[in-house]
Amino acid sequence: MDKKKYLITSALPYANGYIHLGHIAGAYLPADIFVKYKRLKKEDVIFICGSDEHGTAIEISALKEKVTPKEIIDRYHFANKRAFEELGIEFDIYSRTSNEIHHKTSQEFFLNLYNKNLLIKKSEKQLYSEKDKKFLADRFVEGTCPICGYEEARGDQCESCGSNLSPLELINPKSKISGDTPVIKESINFYFPLEKFQKKLEDWISQKTNWKYNVKNYCEGWFKTGLKDRAITRDLEWGVKVPLEGYEGKVIYVWFEAPIGYISATKELFIQRGNPEKWKEYWCDENTKLIHFIGKDNIVFHALVFPAMLMAHGEYILPDNVPANEFLNLEGGKLSKSKGHGILVKDVVKEYNPDLVRYVVASNLPENKDSDLSIDDFKIKNNNELAGILGNFINRTVVFAKNKFNNKIPARQNNESEILKTIKTQADIIEKCYESFRFRDALNETMNIARIANKFFNDMEPWNVIKTDVNKCGEIINDCLNICYSLAIAIYPILPFTSKKILKILNETDTELDWNKIGNINLKENRELGENEILFPQIENNNTTEDKEMEEEISITEFQKIKIKIAKVITCEKIPNSKKLLKLKIKIGDKEKQIVAGIAEHYLPDELIGKSIVVVSNMKKTKLMGIDSEGMLLAAKKDDKLVLLSTDKPIDDGADVN
Ligand code: MF3
Ligand code: ZN
Repeated sequence: MDKKKYLITSALPYANGYIHLGHIAGAYLPADIFVKYKRLKKEDVIFICGSDEHGTAIEISALKEKVTPKEIIDRYHFANKRAFEELGIEFDIYSRTSNEIHHKTSQEFFLNLYNKNLLIKKSEKQLYSEKDKKFLADRFVEGTCPICGYEEARGDQCESCGSNLSPLELINPKSKISGDTPVIKESINFYFPLEKFQKKLEDWISQKTNWKYNVKNYCEGWFKTGLKDRAITRDLEWGVKVPLEGYEGKVIYVWFEAPIGYISATKELFIQRGNPEKWKEYWCDENTKLIHFIGKDNIVFHALVFPAMLMAHGEYILPDNVPANEFLNLEGGKLSKSKGHGILVKDVVKEYNPDLVRYVVASNLPENKDSDLSIDDFKIKNNNELAGILGNFINRTVVFAKNKFNNKIPARQNNESEILKTIKTQADIIEKCYESFRFRDALNETMNIARIANKFFNDMEPWNVIKTDVNKCGEIINDCLNICYSLAIAIYPILPFTSKKILKILNETDTELDWNKIGNINLKENRELGENEILFPQIENNNTTEDKEMEEEISITEFQKIKIKIAKVITCEKIPNSKKLLKLKIKIGDKEKQIVAGIAEHYLPDELIGKSIVVVSNMKKTKLMGIDSEGMLLAAKKDDKLVLLSTDKPIDDGADVN
């Protein structure tokens, strides 16, 4: 049997935003740690990633900024490539889906399924703009939400009431490109028969006994609802063209072609390496373990849709594992760019040692549930753990060797060493953690080497031993230097930059790291050590990042702009053809106003008449379902429950709420 090979992928990030620590915790750091570990084990591994450069999100960003999509993807592709490098995340290739090889590979994949008659053709009504001369995909249309009446609802979703929409449901649809009013036209698109693959997928996943619970659980949820066929072409310009005559102006849906990017990037890698056929040794060989590192929002595509595509194609291997992570929250809120909460990699590496960033993220990995990162962690983990435990051991050992043994590796007579055996056992424990994708545990067990080492140093008291037995003291320090080197290996997957620094301090820069040598290094006696360096200087105060994060707070003046008042409901009625909306006449002191509120599913009109409610009285006038609304009432909402705010004792309408 051939040797096992590993084909490791990290989700291809969209090239329309900067990478932040939430991304890093989901799909990139765990993958990089795993790859580095496998490299130390001398396994055959390739690590694939690149930019996902199609999709409406990118076209919309371009439209907003009035630049071409190409400009957007170039900006973020290179910025993100660099951010990964700065964090020590080392892909074998960081490709891009706009590359020609990817377009070709995706088109071949599409045609393979098309020629087997697997794809389903469907004609559907779509919005078409005569002015823009094209069909308007969902996010290119804006109009009034049929559910809540919000006037700027998107073609796929209303951001006001959260309803999923299709462009045809919008009232008064308008093109986002030109403002043109589109017409309805038939358009033919292709569907992937995912429904047909449900049984096969279920059987396949049921055999995956080593998959993470959260991933399997998620898939089972999808099976329960039943998989639905999925559109895989769209009426768009930006993307991989549908390779069939008569389908001009259509592209392959981004979620169909993006994962194929893993294949294209592998091809590109081996072209670069002068071995253009070698990609097949990874994608077409059952001895290869394909592992997709992703965040939980990508599970459906990597654990269900892409595997079904691969099954349909037939010439490629299926993923061996999809160790998806949950979300990393920052100070309690979701770490996502859209909410402005993200810590961008490009910023954080300017402030902190990249290994500290890796360490903080690795120790907070959301492996089984969402986790929380606190800005204070940078300081605390640096000072207490990296400096206090790891840095401390390296430093005290090297300083001792320098002062008492002329900065040379002291000799040993006795080759037996209990402590090195312990370290070796520890390496086996760490290995088990890595093999089962428990990276937090791996980190903790790795730090335990340094903890054990510090205890050894304390217990052995070399500073006393040297007074009576120089040789014995030499052996202790020889052991300690051996552990320093062992630590350089063991920490390498998590702290690659520090690993290199330790080797430099030990003057061992030209040996190749090998996991199996942990606790078993052949140190050259009497060899001179390098120059010592403080690995993790103390961090005194966290400043800038924290300040940046707090910008979201508002001042009293800002708050006071919002006029909140007590109002009395005079009349209240349902709005015809609307499930959610009620029309209310309210009295605020001596003023009367009309408001439209989305509470019809929670209150009957009669219940409200005569009631005191709390409203924002200085809202700009808007129209909901064509009806004027001059204020907004305040209600508390959780899940499906909604209750109106009221006062705990009666008070006249017109009263200010502050
Ligand atoms: N761009 C997607 C995201 O950021 C991930 C694509 S992964 C791939 O969520 F499989 F499609 F490449
Ligand atoms: Zn709505």
